[in-house]
Amino acid sequence: VGSNIICLKETESTNKVAFTLAEEGAAEGTVVIADAQSAGKGRLGRIWLSPPGVNLYCSVVLRPAIAPMAACQLTFLSVVAVARAIESCTTLKPQIKWPNDILINGKKVAGLLNEMNAETEKVNFVVLGIGVNLNLDMASISESLLRHPATSLLQEGGVEVDRLAFTRALLLELDRLYDVFLAEGEAPVRAEWLERSAIKGRKVKVSQGEREFTGMVQGVDSFGALLVQLSDGKVETVLSGDVALV
Ligand code: BTN
Repeated sequence: VGSNIICLKETESTNKVAFTLAEEGAAEGTVVIADAQSAGKGRLGRIWLSPPGVNLYCSVVLRPAIAPMAACQLTFLSVVAVARAIESCTTLKPQIKWPNDILINGKKVAGLLNEMNAETEKVNFVVLGIGVNLNLDMASISESLLRHPATSLLQEGGVEVDRLAFTRALLLELDRLYDVFLAEGEAPVRAEWLERSAIKGRKVKVSQGEREFTGMVQGVDSFGALLVQLSDGKVETVLSGDVALV
C-alpha cells in the first residue's frame, strides 16, 4: 500500500478519482490523496465536509482475490488502521463504534467509505475511502451541517497533528493489516476490531428506523454484522442500524 501515491490539490472526491484509476487498471496499493474535496462523499449519499489544508482525505485501491460478499471485511482493516494511526501520532484514545465510525470522547473524528467493483463471483477492486479530521477548527463548522457530534484530533488533543506523519502512519498500518488479511484472513483483524470497539458483552440499543430493541453484544460475524442476543435468548444478526450503549 502506498507504492504509488497521487496527491491532488483539489478534487471532487478521492474515492471517485481512485475508482476511475482502478477501472483504468491502476495497480493494487495505489493511493489518492487530496488537500480538499469539493464533493466529498459520506455514507448513505451524505456529504463529507472537506475543507482545504486541515484534514486527511485519501482513497486506497485494493485488489484482493475474494468474493464480493467478503469485501465488507476490508472495513475492519481501515477502522483498525485509523485507530492505530491515531494512537501512534497522538495521546488520544480512539473508540470504534459499529459499523465503522471512529470516535474520540464520543464524537466522530473519522469516516470510512468503501466502494467496490465486482462480478458475481469475484471482486475486481475495492476503493477504501478514509477521511480523518486532523486539525479542523470545530468552531469554524456550523453545527447544522453535522449529523452527529463531530470533532478533530486538534480539538480533542489540543495539539496540531502533522498531516504527513499521520498519513505515513496510516498507510503503514494499512499495509501491515492487509498483509495479515491476505495471509490469515479477516479473523485477527476482526479480533482487534472487537477488542477496540468495547461493545462485546455490553448491553446495547439497536435502532433500525421504526424498530428498536435492546440486547447483549456477542460479537461480529465474519461479514461485519453485529450479533445481539435478545432477552429470550434468540440471537439477532444486525446488518444495519444505529447502535448505542445502554
Ligand atoms: C462517512 O459517512 O462516515 C464516510 C465518510 C468518508 C469520507 C472519505 S474522505 C476520502 C474519501 N473520499 C470521499 O469522497 N469520501 C471518503
